[in-house]
Amino acid sequence: MPVVAGRLNIRATPTGSVGEFVYGQSYLARSDAVPLDPVSLPLNNSATPFTSLSGFPGVILDACPDRWGIAVIDRLLGKKSYPAGYLLMNDPGRAGNLGVSLAANKPPQELESREFPLAELLGAAVAVETGQPVDPELLRALHPGTGGARPKCNIIDGDAVWIAKFPSVKDSPLISIPRLEHATMRLGREWCGIDSAETRLKVVDGKDVCLVRRFDRTVLDGKTFRKGFISARTVFYADPAYAAVVTGSYGRFARWGQRFGCTTEDRRQIFRRMVFNCAVRNADDHELNHGLIHTKGSEFRLSPAFDIVPILTAHEIHRHALLIGDSALGTIANLVSNANAFGINRDEALAIITNIQAAIAERWRETFYEAGFGEEDLRRIEHAFRPIPIDAEIR
Ligand SMILES: Nc1ncnc2c1ncn2[C@@H]1O[C@H](COP(=O)(O)OP(=O)(O)O)[C@@H](O)[C@H]1O
Ligand SMILES: [Mg+2]
Repeated sequence: MPVVAGRLNIRATPTGSVGEFVYGQSYLARSDAVPLDPVSLPLNNSATPFTSLSGFPGVILDACPDRWGIAVIDRLLGKKSYPAGYLLMNDPGRAGNLGVSLAANKPPQELESREFPLAELLGAAVAVETGQPVDPELLRALHPGTGGARPKCNIIDGDAVWIAKFPSVKDSPLISIPRLEHATMRLGREWCGIDSAETRLKVVDGKDVCLVRRFDRTVLDGKTFRKGFISARTVFYADPAYAAVVTGSYGRFARWGQRFGCTTEDRRQIFRRMVFNCAVRNADDHELNHGLIHTKGSEFRLSPAFDIVPILTAHEIHRHALLIGDSALGTIANLVSNANAFGINRDEALAIITNIQAAIAERWRETFYEAGFGEEDLRRIEHAFRPIPIDAEIR
């Protein structure tokens, strides 16, 4: 059952939307009250203003559907105003544990649906992408609240909720992206010390689907429970100075994550993920592809890693979505330049890089064979596993 946590008021001003969040007295009085965000919204009586992100606290915006969900909801119910219209859909697939409604006495109404076989959901996702007619019941069953741009849905299987990530009609026919994601996430988890979410590959009507186990849901006796989720974007905006720069970096994530409850171990893990993303050319490592998960009380810890996919174009040096050191370039020099932000020194940083690169060189082929790729696929993707360039100057 949802409980009312607080009220968000958004008003238009000549310089843009300004939001104000205040916790409800009844919520503050609860012995089990936890802050939505322990840094930007600690539990107290005062009203907190928000001037970035259209006046929305980052943690609330983290529950909003992204490009994929918006496309599905637009098909289902027509265009809404972003973000309020999409947040008010309260789709069960949304990230974290928050719901939104227009008044305290109106509990959030969730988009409901019956269950469908994965094959039909996959067909519905293709219909959304290609503009073909599709049954509204099926559209609802996709649970479009989950973020990201790629076609996906949510399914319950056994004791877990899984995000089923589909192929997109826009994908290159040369390589299966869901299979690539599954193999890369496994490579990280099994051999490179990356705490990545569990994945499974399923072939549905001849198409690959990557199932990713949700870390913000648990299923017990057929009931689903939710945990709070905070994206790296929300961590960045916790720093009032951030709005002026708007350049996220791994170092900032590691440093500011500590205020939310991240430990020394989490900071090291962030460093490992940064190295791994460079080593497998996952350059789309943006602020919504990293996050924190609620553990207890006011504490959030680094969430398992997700959405790790090598980019298919070969470049000498890749430019990442988050800054690595002073720049976004994926080079060894840049990786070690800011080691202290992760609680390690330069030598430790170099040792981790050496260790991850050696594991990848030794294991990526067998991991990819095991995931069902063939010789020709491996040739197409091997550029992604070349050693990380030492420096931007050295050719
Ligand atoms: N294993 C997971 N558990 C919980 N939430 C997840 C998980 N993986 C992804 N998410 C959430 O779903 C969003 C979309 O997933 P993602 O894999 O990033 O899809 P896309 O490839 O479309 O970007 C993420 O931004 C994150 O908020
Ligand atoms: Mg993503």
